[in-house]
Amino acid sequence: MPAQFGLSPVISGSAPIGIFDSGVGGLTVLKEIERQLPKESILYVGDTARLPYGDRTPGEILEFVREIIAWMMGKQVKMVMMACNTSSALALEQVQAEFPVPILGLIHPGARAATKAGQRVGVIATPATVASNAYRDAILEADARTQVWQVGCPRFVPLIEGDRLLALETKQVAAEYLSPLLAANIDTLIYGCTHYPHLEPVLRSLLPSQVQRINPAVHMVRAAAKELELLNLKNPGPARPPQFYVSGNPQQFAHLSERWLGYQPLVGQVSFVPVAAPSLHSQGQ
Ligand code: DGL
Repeated sequence: MPAQFGLSPVISGSAPIGIFDSGVGGLTVLKEIERQLPKESILYVGDTARLPYGDRTPGEILEFVREIIAWMMGKQVKMVMMACNTSSALALEQVQAEFPVPILGLIHPGARAATKAGQRVGVIATPATVASNAYRDAILEADARTQVWQVGCPRFVPLIEGDRLLALETKQVAAEYLSPLLAANIDTLIYGCTHYPHLEPVLRSLLPSQVQRINPAVHMVRAAAKELELLNLKNPGPARPPQFYVSGNPQQFAHLSERWLGYQPLVGQVSFVPVAAPSLHSQGQ
């Protein structure tokens, strides 16, 4: 295992859980952790200088994810939750093999929950997540009888990061993205990007009430709770206030996130440094 990524021997339950996203999408995961695991401390990273991830190549996404997790290892996190579907779709298996820390993604928990909810599943996600087919594959692996429709939604993240949640344009764009899924008569919809639960009021208003809406974060955090228990890494509590770092403008993130957090957080700035692909720790090197 490469020494620079080694888990500290003193790592304990009181260490924070690291979560990251390109921007404010990860706040929907933070909320879910606070709801299900209120005693856990959280280190939040938003790679705002490089968003949206959804338009990036798989190679770029893997590089960014490596840099963020390497930085989090320096902050002694005890676990990493990818609060970003695009990263989960394109980099999870690779970084799980590279870093000696439990790393959880959103795709499989979300896909399994969807197959329990229905048989005609729609997925809205970033173009990169849709192109990877990660959700389609995971859904069919969970239940091969399920039918899947995927729609890439490139305009959602810029609208959310631009604080345009209530704009008429946002509703029109949402109606456009949902229209092929409604035509396919879906019974279940996966929010395949962590930004999208921020659009819940708009999306709910456009969907028939019988369509089940799946937020994969609910299911990833449930899995994380089990894993912390198993590894004996639960924090006896109390949680410290979450720490926030972004690669872009801290004030802009603090201002935008107030809407969901209910307070303006203190936000630090981080510059990520390129990381060479570490040798795989699963090979014991
Ligand atoms: N919120 C992220 C996701 O879940 C990334 C969105 C983006 O930056 O395009 O996919």
